[in-house]
Amino acid sequence: MPTEQDNPPGTFYVTTPIYYVNDKPHLGHVYTTMVADVVARYHRLRGDDTFFLTGVDEHAAKVSDKAAEHGLSPQQWADQNAAAFRGTFEKLEMTNDDFVRTSSERHKAKVTEYVAALIASGDVYAGEYTGWYDAGQEEYVPENKAKQQDYKSDVNGKPLVKKAEKNYFFKLEKYREPLLAFYEQRDKAGRGYVQPEARKNEIVNRIKEANDIPISRSGSGGWGIPVPGDAEQTIYVWIDALFNYLTYVDDDDRRKFWESGATHFIAKDILWFHAAIWPALQMALSKCDGYDWVWSDRVAENQLVYSHSYWVSESGEKMSKSLGNFLDPAAIDNYVDEFGLDALRYFLATRGPLGTTDSAFSPDLFVEVYNSDLANTYGNSASRVSNMIGKYFNGVAPESQGLDSEQSKLFGGTDPSHQSATFVELFNTDLDALKLGASSDRACELIRLVDAYIEVTSPFKLAKDPDKLPEVGTILYNCAEALRIASILLWPFIPDKCEAFWSRIGCGHYAEQLKDKGRGDLAAWVEWGQLKPGTPIEKGEALFPRYQVEKK
Ligand code: MSP
Repeated sequence: MPTEQDNPPGTFYVTTPIYYVNDKPHLGHVYTTMVADVVARYHRLRGDDTFFLTGVDEHAAKVSDKAAEHGLSPQQWADQNAAAFRGTFEKLEMTNDDFVRTSSERHKAKVTEYVAALIASGDVYAGEYTGWYDAGQEEYVPENKAKQQDYKSDVNGKPLVKKAEKNYFFKLEKYREPLLAFYEQRDKAGRGYVQPEARKNEIVNRIKEANDIPISRSGSGGWGIPVPGDAEQTIYVWIDALFNYLTYVDDDDRRKFWESGATHFIAKDILWFHAAIWPALQMALSKCDGYDWVWSDRVAENQLVYSHSYWVSESGEKMSKSLGNFLDPAAIDNYVDEFGLDALRYFLATRGPLGTTDSAFSPDLFVEVYNSDLANTYGNSASRVSNMIGKYFNGVAPESQGLDSEQSKLFGGTDPSHQSATFVELFNTDLDALKLGASSDRACELIRLVDAYIEVTSPFKLAKDPDKLPEVGTILYNCAEALRIASILLWPFIPDKCEAFWSRIGCGHYAEQLKDKGRGDLAAWVEWGQLKPGTPIEKGEALFPRYQVEKK
């Protein structure tokens, strides 16, 4: 099991897909960005120099089509929706360090440079392409796959279109073997590039038959980045988009993030582009003059693409704009108003489709999780312990004097001072492995242990005997200390409530340090015994009031 020493603070780069701006954001986009936010916050909490990137993908034909429907220029339409995405993410307190717009000068200039370098090296060349095109996905579908799908889109069911065009091609075929070898490489934790591992085979099989791919198109009406040296052709939106992961960190200050190996969160719909084309483009670019840093042993070892499944409606349909069954920004706002932002963050991050099965968004499950983990566990335990400290110790953290050996034997199994370090270690291991639900459970288990400890030790009974007050003090100190540690672990998931709790227990300095994307010191903060006896402990309002389901 890795320990803190094996894994000292370092540099961390996490990304989300950049989302199409043909329409406003919905729950699916919010989900991936929220998962990346939890992971970014965890790394900042650990002390890592962290860079978290999200943003929007603008040069798609469906963006210019939608703009035309609304009588606007593609740029105007993109501006409106880019603002909607940015606004939604800000409201949800996402801590991204930059926001990609592919229509930005920075991005366009860099992509032009990269493609020019690839043309010069010969990995991009001019030719002609004929194939089945899925207009909704902006993607060519290989012949055998098109046949399997009955020549219809497997996403929206619309017929595929046979298209022939002059194109620039990328020599993907040349990178078949290097890609297959790359998928076998492992990082220190034993993980390969394609995560979850169960998704690797579909990519490996497809790579074995992969041919060169078109990376440009004609007649885009000027919306997009021109192929350098051929103004008739526009760089295919997917190539333009994938490069965002580089264009926004390709400068002297940020290059270190790229070099540390990116963690790319995406959903399964776009795995092929990320698993096959993206690393092949990196390998190709690294052979061009001045770009050797793009592909090093360290980048290859540490980079990974994590492809999660879908949020689906309770009847099992994928939430999407074209299918019209999504949770839109207004519905997301309603959840925030009713339960608080942290509750939404917690539910999405811990019960979402990170694994290989889809998750149904169920309002009933939302309430159940809210009540069981947040109201009845964290919220209840925090108020129970602070109430007892208020009642028996005038609201001041008591001394911990240690229990005598008889008592230790009796309570040892539930004593959080014995168990806390184990929970912290398991939490770190799970979160490092991107198991968000399992890691938050570790923190909840520590809190449930506090409840069990209170049941076994019964401080409220002991307190009736004045001679037993030192013992009650020790018990309540242990409880408060365990809650302090659990609240640090839970911060990436529910930052606002944890910060509120910290200010009640004299730990406001954590929030100060983490403010404005500052870095914490997780390893030091979770050491047992840092709650200072004598610190005022405020009761405050319930952190998560229990939600009463109205009886129909
Ligand atoms: N623009 C491309 C991505 C380019 S990345 C270099 C694109 N955009 S998109 O707007 O269609 O966003 C797709 C992504 O949104 C998915 O990969 C996923 O991250 C998120 N989701 C969209 N719908 C989703 C669900 N129903 N459930 C979970 N995530 C979903 O593809």
